Amino acid sequence: MTSTSSQSPSQDELKTLVGQAALQYVPQGEIIGVGTGSTVNKFIDALAGIKDRIKGAVSSSNASTERLQALGIPVLDCNAVGELAVYIDGADEIDRHGCMIKGGGAALTREKIVAAQSRRFICIADESKLVDALGRFPVPVEVIPMAAQRLVRQFAAMGGKAAIRMKDGQALRTDNGQQILDVSGLRIKDALAFESEVNQWPGVVTVGVFAHQRAAVCLLATQRGVQTLTF
Ligand code: A5P
Repeated sequence: MTSTSSQSPSQDELKTLVGQAALQYVPQGEIIGVGTGSTVNKFIDALAGIKDRIKGAVSSSNASTERLQALGIPVLDCNAVGELAVYIDGADEIDRHGCMIKGGGAALTREKIVAAQSRRFICIADESKLVDALGRFPVPVEVIPMAAQRLVRQFAAMGGKAAIRMKDGQALRTDNGQQILDVSGLRIKDALAFESEVNQWPGVVTVGVFAHQRAAVCLLATQRGVQTLTF
């Protein structure tokens, strides 16, 4: 466990701390996978300071691509590169096995693709994200729009309440042109089984439970410093 001293840092400061701490996992001379979200934005900002040490990044969203490029970090296509040494991303929830809920930023599908192409997932999060059991945060699910209402009913049958995510009065569209269902009220006892089951429902693009692509390491920013959890 490493720790960084600070007095009652704000959540934003915790994200900055953990974003900087993630630099220790950036391998020299490699291409790395980069996630999406406010915590990853802090990591990208820190990465800019050592950008000459890497060949570039594979990005998990248009938002992260724009931020990386604005800071002069080359962004490469997934299909132009092989296996990545490391994928660094945040989470909406992470349990004590490294399983996560992701997709609060609607980037879950590309996040899972880049994570699957990477040897190790390094999760960066503040302590509010650590949970004993996944499911307090509504599970994001990217879906093909024509299947949305049937999937709402399918989640209801397993005790979940699914709602189409809205933005500016309209159904939000992901970077892939699809919709997001946010599903609350689920009890996820077996994250691997849940992910496998929901992923094979017709119309589901990606479920935001990351158990098959779980974290190998979580850098957790706490009021007492950055803790390193390994799974
Ligand atoms: C993006 O779709 C998500 O998976 C993010 O990784 C997750 O929502 C964490 O985001 P924050 O770092 O903004 O909390």
